[in-house]
Amino acid sequence: MKQNLNFQWSFLEGYSPLYLKEFPIGASKVDLPHTVKEVPLNYFSEASYQGLYCYEKYFDMENDLPVNFLVFEGAMLKIHVYLNGEDLGEHVSGFMPVKLDISKCLKKKKNRLLVVLDSREDPNVPPFGKVVDYLTFGGIYRPVYIESHAESYLKDILIEANSDGTLRIKPKIVGKEKPHYALYDAYHLVENFDENEHKVASPITPWDNSDKPKLYRLLVTVGKETSEFLVGFRDVEWKKDGFFLNGKPLKLRGLNRHQTFAYVGAALPASAQREDARILKKELGCNVVRTSHYGDDESFLDECDKLGLLVINEVPGWQYVGKNKEWRDNFFDLTKRLVLKERNHPSLIAYGLRIDESEDDEELNKGANKIQKELDPTRKSLGVRNFKESKCYDDIYAYNDFSCSSLEHGLDEPSSWKGAVGLPKLVTEHNGHMFPTKSFDPTDRRLEHALRHLRVMDDAYKYDDLCGAIGWCAFDYNTHKEFGSDDHICYHGVSSIHRNPKLAGYAYASQGERDVFQVSRLLQVGDVDECLLSNVYCFTNADYVDFYLGNEKIGRFYPDKEEFPHLPHPPIKIDDFIGDRFNEKLSPKDAERIKKALNLAATKGFSRMSAKEKFPVALVALKNHLSFNAFVAMYNKYIQNWGQRSAVYEFVAYRGGEEMARKKIGASTEFHYELRSMHEHLKNEATYDVSRIKIFKVDEYGTQMPYTSDVLTFETEGPIEVIGPKSVALQGGEHAVYVRSLPTSKESVATLTVKGVSGVAKIKLVVE
Ligand code: GAL
Repeated sequence: MKQNLNFQWSFLEGYSPLYLKEFPIGASKVDLPHTVKEVPLNYFSEASYQGLYCYEKYFDMENDLPVNFLVFEGAMLKIHVYLNGEDLGEHVSGFMPVKLDISKCLKKKKNRLLVVLDSREDPNVPPFGKVVDYLTFGGIYRPVYIESHAESYLKDILIEANSDGTLRIKPKIVGKEKPHYALYDAYHLVENFDENEHKVASPITPWDNSDKPKLYRLLVTVGKETSEFLVGFRDVEWKKDGFFLNGKPLKLRGLNRHQTFAYVGAALPASAQREDARILKKELGCNVVRTSHYGDDESFLDECDKLGLLVINEVPGWQYVGKNKEWRDNFFDLTKRLVLKERNHPSLIAYGLRIDESEDDEELNKGANKIQKELDPTRKSLGVRNFKESKCYDDIYAYNDFSCSSLEHGLDEPSSWKGAVGLPKLVTEHNGHMFPTKSFDPTDRRLEHALRHLRVMDDAYKYDDLCGAIGWCAFDYNTHKEFGSDDHICYHGVSSIHRNPKLAGYAYASQGERDVFQVSRLLQVGDVDECLLSNVYCFTNADYVDFYLGNEKIGRFYPDKEEFPHLPHPPIKIDDFIGDRFNEKLSPKDAERIKKALNLAATKGFSRMSAKEKFPVALVALKNHLSFNAFVAMYNKYIQNWGQRSAVYEFVAYRGGEEMARKKIGASTEFHYELRSMHEHLKNEATYDVSRIKIFKVDEYGTQMPYTSDVLTFETEGPIEVIGPKSVALQGGEHAVYVRSLPTSKESVATLTVKGVSGVAKIKLVVE
């Protein structure tokens, strides 16, 4: 039985021994997940949230069961816990749960729980010891609850389920009772059984990476108690010739995720965690996520199970390996806790057991593998390194390949990874710091960012023996002053810190199966040096796109298989702005020559065209007695130029013979704000709930306006609150706020109003 303890805590900054007895008047009231300090978007010091803080909670017990555990799912970094004056000791949490037996000091009524939280970076606890490229923030940032049991209960379990219906269950039971199992398909009983190794007789639908993979419910009854586990039947194989799910090869295509958000660090409840998994799978089209570089929130992993998003986890760390015993003992302890926490998630396909990008350390690496294999022999391990000669004590060779520095190069040949001979190979990071890109950077940089990610993906598909590639990273993140841009943000995400996709985000999305169509630029000549048009890329999984200027069709364009021969969906490059509209008295051959030259002049600039490229113009001019001015006149007739009456371009994309998307792009004259919510119904349940509201400034064609920095103010009515500042400036034409539910006695309607220079937008939410 579970009793949640997430609402109405008292919170104080600092610590005094007096607080152990009583909190002074004036402590603030907070709910969990909680951050000790709300920080600005950027330009803040990590020192601002590091220190000692106290939390107090009074509660009555809701049951009389004899065995009780107090569980903190995650508190950064250490907690010293007192219950009814009893000292329950100091414990390292960080990214791992802390579970304390409180049976002896619990009262029926008016229990006083006091937690002294230490959020300072401790050099003896991984990931600390040196500098780290991410922030850990501080707070009881994941849920807290009491787990109660009868005398006999299920303490722990390891469930292995294979696609042929075999179940191997290792239960750990307190007391003399034997477990009884019941497997359900939703609410329909599949089979009852008592043995720990069991083959399900009825046909099983395997769990896979489709959007709605099959999860069965396994009910485990021990004495009077029944616990439920979601089970996915699947086979995961890592081979030297690739990755296989249920016997079928699957190229892993994914992104790394840091768990932090703007303003509140990692302190957002289940719905925000679940939304991140959804963004990765459904919006960005990934089939795998690496939870770099630590253990993630349970609700994030639960959602990965539900969405069929494969997961590679990792022990907490970052480049540094401590040599002293305390650090190493903590490392082994955290490794054990990571495995115990995550081993029953069907989505977990491998453990990351080496400190990310660390030196080779045989004792540490072998030790971590030994712990993992003892606790979960069903899975393979990998270790992420950044040098090719690194020795491997894991099952899979993972390498961060940052060699992509231009459009000529994606990945190094995996056969050049000297330490990886005979092992399965996976690229666990690429791009990232090699090409940081802000959502408000100039178009060309945002485009190149997207193309670089595609170039790597193309190579990942090319190398048959490579299991796949995972890019750095999904979302921009706040970091220590030693990293990131001047404002201490690593703009390495394919999405902004607010989780809105950059062009690179659309490049990922377009490799998936959801319909995607995104044009790389606004087609304003004034936006490009020398008033050129520059090449336009469409990130899409369409089969082709018809391109129009006004009502006149320019032509039909197809995926660029020349530049990206291996991608499932190469982008469609538009490099012809004249096409079928060309109507001059020239032979078809000469017309093609002139069209080609005009397009080159429009995208590259006439002065940069080589002699070979210019020669056909001279040839046609001579042959047809045309002056250079005639060529200029044609340019002005067919190509949009500086100060010409602006035109509206239109793209119509087709897939499977049907229209998939239609998009107009033209000079804008009307602007408004558009709000889109992640969900409209917020529920105060185990914790408060949040909804992410995306905010865009768009024009009359629905195009995001990337250069706006309008100041927006937020007003709320009803039981909701905006998390973070109540007034922000748009960046790159976008923002997103998390709105949290406040406790309410009845179902109520709430409204968020957003006001700015281009008007007012509202969104209604229901809170219960
Ligand atoms: C890697 C590291 C990541 C991140 C990334 C930036 O070296 O593993 O955590 O710092 O670089 O590109």
